[in-house]
Amino acid sequence: MASPYGNHQILVASNRGPVSYDVREDGELQAKRGGGGLVSGLSAIGPDRGALWVCSALGDGDREAVARGVGEDGVRMLDIDAEVHADAYNGIANSVLWFVHHMLYQTPLEPVFDKEFRRQWASYEEYNRAFARALADEAAEGAVAVVQDYHLTLVPGMLRQLRPDLRIGHFSHTPWAPVDYFRLLPDDIAEQVLRGMLGADRLGFLTQRWASAFTACAQELVGGLGDTRVGVHGLGADADFLRRRSHEPDVAARMVTLREQIGEGRKAIVRVDRTELSKNIVRGMLAYRQLLEDQPSWREQVVHVAFAYPSRQDLAVYRDYTAEVQRVADEINSAYGTPGWTPVLLHVDDDFARSLAAYRLADVALVNPIRDGMNLVAKEVPVVSDEGCVLVLSREAGAYEELGEDAIVVNPYDVVGTAGALHEALVMGAGERAERTKRLAAAATALPPAQWFLEQLRELEG
Ligand code: G6P
Repeated sequence: MASPYGNHQILVASNRGPVSYDVREDGELQAKRGGGGLVSGLSAIGPDRGALWVCSALGDGDREAVARGVGEDGVRMLDIDAEVHADAYNGIANSVLWFVHHMLYQTPLEPVFDKEFRRQWASYEEYNRAFARALADEAAEGAVAVVQDYHLTLVPGMLRQLRPDLRIGHFSHTPWAPVDYFRLLPDDIAEQVLRGMLGADRLGFLTQRWASAFTACAQELVGGLGDTRVGVHGLGADADFLRRRSHEPDVAARMVTLREQIGEGRKAIVRVDRTELSKNIVRGMLAYRQLLEDQPSWREQVVHVAFAYPSRQDLAVYRDYTAEVQRVADEINSAYGTPGWTPVLLHVDDDFARSLAAYRLADVALVNPIRDGMNLVAKEVPVVSDEGCVLVLSREAGAYEELGEDAIVVNPYDVVGTAGALHEALVMGAGERAERTKRLAAAATALPPAQWFLEQLRELEG
């Protein structure tokens, strides 16, 4: 008898998939492939295991691809109603859950959980349900499904109801909020999120700190973890890929241009981020300005290279934050710049080859997030660096757990302290800098993406 189930043994679910589509001027669809841990993880298990990636159509190009039946083997894009998706993704995932886990609210005035929030929450439920149903349709009996991130917290519980035979995992790529902060959420919503996650057999986090925070929330609010196991998998950098990619000719060309812009003989303090509110780019610039004040001998001798790539531009706070980054950079340049020296070199257009070029030539890497699940930039720079790079690292980044010992560690809110750390980093001797970079690179690559993914599968299949 034919099985009533689907035929996929391994399923991944995430809001953003591995491919996206643009409609070109001639009306043809153009596919763009993304990277990241999951992409390498899935390629490591090979095509024969019948893996399927369920994701959401995000833009008009993606919706058009679904409508025309265009797609890739192993990917199923869900065409969720655009308004439902916007409420779920922009309204709840990025404006509420992201804010809670990164502790981003200015609490005297926000959050306000009003009727509008409740309306958006209903969309978040609907969007999660669409994922749960698709997974339930596609999964073979006893298959493994790994659900990703805060967008899809309700999926494990919903899927468990539909398909009790499945082995369900959920992985959080963000921090988890401490109990007191998590309790900003309305009680019923907080409980729903926790119970949704606890529908999984196993929950994965990037660090022990986030795993413990989740466990504490579960204990306080829903009486514990029940049968759900919790594990830590600290996603590392992909050394083979990075070393190869960073020696391709386009990166070399970018290095020449960057070196010209920085100026021969000057030091470079590099940062590369998506322009997230949590990345703390503005305080990073304020710390750099403080350095130029406290240690005027660095003037003309150092450049702050800041790449702040666009992210979530549908949200006004993100647009405002991007404008503020630009404003502070301009302000520093007009206060301190000279005809031959631009103190801050800010680029806001995404260019991966140029990021790698900056990694290779950086003297200091500034990674100072307010709070961050892991922060892969902190792990990538030491792998790619040509001559060694000092890492100035926030203790609130997940990467701190593995890299803290060989970094110069900062409190991300302490601008004066960060200025001091930048100075210390700039004066570190070449020998120590190279030694530390070597140890950082080893720690950063301890769990490459493919192993990171396989480890989770093994735990679920086990
Ligand atoms: C960051 C977070 C991930 C999240 C992703 C979503 O990279 O670390 O947890 O899934 O943002 O970004 P997006 O551009 O899809 O909103």
